[in-house]
Amino acid sequence: MTYRDQYVSYVNMVEERMEALLPKSENAYADGSIPARLCDSMRYSLFAGGKRVRPVLLLSTCDMLGGDIEQAKTPAAALEMIHTYSLIHDDLPGMDDDDYRRGRLTNHKVYGVGHAILAGDGLLNYAYECLLQHALSHPENLEGHVKAAAVIAQRAGVTGMIAGQSLDLLSEHMPAEAERLQYIHTHKTADLLTAPLLAAAWIAGAEEKTRVALTRFGAAVGIAFQIDDDLLDLEGDAKALGKLTGMDAQRGKMTWPSLFGVKEARNRSRELWEEAERVLACFGDRAWFLREFVQQLRNRTK
Ligand code: IPE
Ligand code: IPE
Ligand code: MG
Ligand code: MG
Ligand code: MG
Repeated sequence: MTYRDQYVSYVNMVEERMEALLPKSENAYADGSIPARLCDSMRYSLFAGGKRVRPVLLLSTCDMLGGDIEQAKTPAAALEMIHTYSLIHDDLPGMDDDDYRRGRLTNHKVYGVGHAILAGDGLLNYAYECLLQHALSHPENLEGHVKAAAVIAQRAGVTGMIAGQSLDLLSEHMPAEAERLQYIHTHKTADLLTAPLLAAAWIAGAEEKTRVALTRFGAAVGIAFQIDDDLLDLEGDAKALGKLTGMDAQRGKMTWPSLFGVKEARNRSRELWEEAERVLACFGDRAWFLREFVQQLRNRTK
């Protein structure tokens, strides 16, 4: 299979699973179904054409490690729900106050702040509901699925992504400081990009040294991804990105380019992408897809 075909196949797997888990609801209110407006607001952001980076990482890592891809689909869909909730809340007026996301108006601009909060809460909670039900439906790999859910919860949680978001907010308009910036990027972004790698490792029953290598890979990819996001906010094309540019400076965000300058930020990003490629070497040919995926992410314009 070519890289392109494999990539499309992974994206289709996650789209189909998300559609199956969160179908359109026609009920204004009825016990046991999601109220229509809440469901619409959750679906509005979930099916807005994100890049699906995290689920593709989960599925491809599971394949690389010889795991059962069927068992990875629900965790991949759940992780994309968690990521989407983080974006809905990130855009709220009390946070980054953004009007565009994934090429359309942000959730709160369409459904109001109250429902945007609930859509985020809904996606977050439903993700864990799906993960736990999925674990229970695989008694033969219960421990693998519980460990995958636990690592997702930790990396998305109060010592992970949420911790990074907290420091990101507290650091607005502060003099930039390298150690603090490293903490912000590690947690707000790298943690949620490492979660799929480790979840896949648990589902596939990989050994500890594999998890160590994947943790290194995730840290490099995650920080490079956020440096590139900061650079794209400065130099990218809003139409391609599907979100407005120049917002970090407007909000006084602590970013790599603001601390070290654009040139140094580009250098650091390149070094980290190269580090990610070096880690993949230990997986040999099995990492063929991830190797290409790193190139795709590295050259992204959106
Ligand atoms: C945006 O993530 C938030 C960051 C961590 C930079 P993505 O760039 O993966 O956004 P989508 O999912 O494609 O919309
Ligand atoms: C967001 O970082 C990371 C999240 C946890 C959502 P940014 O605030 O830089 O992401 P964008 O630029 O709004 O996508
Ligand atoms: Mg933010
Ligand atoms: Mg933001
Ligand atoms: Mg950004």
